[in-house]
Amino acid sequence: MPITVHPLSPAIAAEIRGADISGPLDPQDIAAITQAWLDHCVLLFRDQSLDPNQQRAFVRNFGELGGRKARVEPQNYRKPDEETAGPDYNADSMLVTNIRENGKPIGVLPDGEMWFHHDMCYAPQPNRASFLYSIEVPSHGGDTIFANMYEAYTRLPQHLKDRIEGRTVLQAFDEHQDRRIELAQKPLSQVPHCFQPIVLRHPDTGRRAIYVNRLMSHRIQGLTDAESDALLEELLAYTEDPAIQYQHVWRPGDLLMWDNLCSTHARTDFPREERRLMRRYTLAGAPVTAAWESHTAP
Ligand code: SIN
Repeated sequence: MPITVHPLSPAIAAEIRGADISGPLDPQDIAAITQAWLDHCVLLFRDQSLDPNQQRAFVRNFGELGGRKARVEPQNYRKPDEETAGPDYNADSMLVTNIRENGKPIGVLPDGEMWFHHDMCYAPQPNRASFLYSIEVPSHGGDTIFANMYEAYTRLPQHLKDRIEGRTVLQAFDEHQDRRIELAQKPLSQVPHCFQPIVLRHPDTGRRAIYVNRLMSHRIQGLTDAESDALLEELLAYTEDPAIQYQHVWRPGDLLMWDNLCSTHARTDFPREERRLMRRYTLAGAPVTAAWESHTAP
C-alpha cells in the first residue's frame, strides 16, 4: 500500500498513513516521508508498535542519532542500561515521563505544562530533530502543540524583519527544571547557554525561520534589557499565533517526528497523578546557520 500524506492543520504537521515503521522501509517511502517532513515540519504516525530498537532504526533512516551533550541528568535519572532496564528504553533513548519510583522521576521533563521551545537551542550544535513515541497517556491534557517558525517569520511586518536582521539571541535553559530560568537568580555559568541567530536558514529548504521561544530565549544581543524584552515580546506574539499551530492529542502508539529548526513545541498541563510515558530519540544536528549567511541550499 503506498504511503499517503494528510495535513493536520493549515499551517503545520501531517499524518503519514500506510507506513508500518517498525521494520525496514523502501527507499521510495523514506524519500516520500522525508519530503513530507520538509513540507510540513512535523509528521505523525498512528498505531505503531515500536520497541526501542525499532524506534532507533526508524530514526537512523534520517541521519545520525543525537546525543545529550548539553544535558546534565537529574540526580535520580535512571540511566538506561540494556542489561537491567525494562522493555521501554535502551542506551540511546530518553524517557519523557512523570513516572516516579521511590518518589523520584525515572525520566526527564516530568510534570505539567511546558512553554514553547526549540529542543536544545541553548547548545552550540542543537539536535536537529526529535522522535517521540507514546506508550502511556493521561486521560486528558499532556497535548503537544507545534508552531511553524517559517510561517512566523513570513508574517512579521517588514520593520520587525529589519530590526532583527543580523542579530543574535541568548538561549539558556536549566535542564533540572521545566520552567524558564530567571537569569537574575541563576548565573549563566551554572546553566547550558549560547548565542544563536535570531533568524536561521534551514539547511535543506533554504527558508528563513524564527529561532526564538518563550522558554529558552532571554536577551537580544546589542539591545538594553528593556529594549530586548520589548522586542522579544513582539516576536513571541508572532511565534505563538494560534493560526500557525497544530495541537496533538496523544494516543498510545503515536510516533511524532519534528524538525527543531523550523518548529517550536509546547506541552499542555495534565493530571499529576496520571501516568504519561514517552520514549524519545533525537537526530544529531549541526551548528545553526544564520539567515543572513551565504548558503547553497535551494
Ligand atoms: C519535549 O519538549 O521534548 C517534550 C514534549 C512533550 O512531553 O510533549
